[in-house]
Amino acid sequence: MSLSDSIPNNVDLGSDRKLLRALEKWQPNFRSWWMEMGPDGFQQNDIYLRTATSVDPKGWATYDYVKMPDYRWGIFLTPREGERSVNFGDVAGSKAWEEVPGELRGILRRIIVTQADTEPASVEQQRQLGKTAPSLYDLRNLFQVNVEEGRHLWAMVHLLHQYFGRDGREEAEGLLERRSGDADKPRILQTFNETTDEWLSFFCFTMFTDRDGKYQLAALSESGFDPLARATQFMLTEESFHLFCGETGIERIVQRSAELTKQDPNGDARDQGGVDLPTIQRWINYWFSSAVELFGGEISSNAADYFATGLKGRYREMAKYEDHRALGDSYEMSVPKDGKLVSETIPLRNALNEVLRDEYVADCERAVRKWNHVIKKAGVSFELALPSRRFNRSMGIYAGMSFDLAGSPITKEAFEAKRAEWLPSAEDRAYVRSLMQPVYEPGKIANWIAPPKTGVNGQPFEFEYVKLAR
Ligand SMILES: [Fe+2]
Ligand SMILES: [Fe+2]
Repeated sequence: MSLSDSIPNNVDLGSDRKLLRALEKWQPNFRSWWMEMGPDGFQQNDIYLRTATSVDPKGWATYDYVKMPDYRWGIFLTPREGERSVNFGDVAGSKAWEEVPGELRGILRRIIVTQADTEPASVEQQRQLGKTAPSLYDLRNLFQVNVEEGRHLWAMVHLLHQYFGRDGREEAEGLLERRSGDADKPRILQTFNETTDEWLSFFCFTMFTDRDGKYQLAALSESGFDPLARATQFMLTEESFHLFCGETGIERIVQRSAELTKQDPNGDARDQGGVDLPTIQRWINYWFSSAVELFGGEISSNAADYFATGLKGRYREMAKYEDHRALGDSYEMSVPKDGKLVSETIPLRNALNEVLRDEYVADCERAVRKWNHVIKKAGVSFELALPSRRFNRSMGIYAGMSFDLAGSPITKEAFEAKRAEWLPSAEDRAYVRSLMQPVYEPGKIANWIAPPKTGVNGQPFEFEYVKLAR
């Protein structure tokens, strides 16, 4: 089978010899990276996976048993109807670019490489999790997320190969050379160098970190560089499943936690072998505060440039806004001054990272309300909450100051005194890791998490999602 046949695509790969050659050279390196840094073990097992095989919204994916190394990582651009324009920024109204404009080459490459780097990074972060999956359903979902992050890497590498010549090919190699958490050649963004070695963190990652990805992809899907807009648009269709894993994963742990709290004579879920709600809260504090860093500085000339040049829009730029130049407007922001917070008026274009972060925070708040509903229904009095976006920051205008969970400035000493109450301690981590015993029998599930409401693709929870050698 030729490469153009083995890669499902709608970019007419078979007739673009130059692109085909570039991808043929890159593919074996991708495969070696996958075998070295992808899921540890399970590479020869049949897994019930979804593969993107077309862009038809009614039936874009097929489900079948696949061994991960045989997964067909495809290249898809969401089709456009008619002519498209650059829709925002200084050049709003001009024709959208089908090639990279010379003067934007540098920043566009940086945007694509930064997005691309997160895809293999997350696979590397999660490579040990298969060994401790709470059920075959969850094991399969982990691998689904992993292979799709691999496809997202393909999507970005396709853009680098097709539109950035030799620079693009070098960047594509670099994406397979950096390693999450490596001291010498780390992944570009810090959050993607942190370990995700237990499942509470996996669900927090797919809830909070992948959700940053959703908002970045959505902003890029507005881009005046049409191939980027179309590639990211299609990535969002897969991404929604990753977010589903995170949101419902936490919900299922919360539900089980509430049940065990109720069962225990002292109301302590840990005594019943579960994760107690205060521990879940600490994980939320940690992962949320790490994920909000990914939106970039609160006051940012880069964000202003990306918007002005028509490369990166706001969330749902076309659907939500009337004025796509965003020139005269401003944004009220709490800014640290002499150890206090003061309100400052920032030109809107410089505050666009914060505008995107607002969308993200509101979305996370929606999920927390859902989780709290589950706790309430179980008859337990406890409420989860997101920390303030100022809490525990190491980048942006709030870095260097300490804030409590509500976002009020406190001393560094006061923060340290509360650290073990607010963030996961070494003991917490050891405890959560101690719960991570694999459950590989179809229909069974670990004690610390509730089963899902439904299975995958109409299959029941008891379905054999991963065929393990027995
Ligand atoms: Fe992704
Ligand atoms: Fe994802």
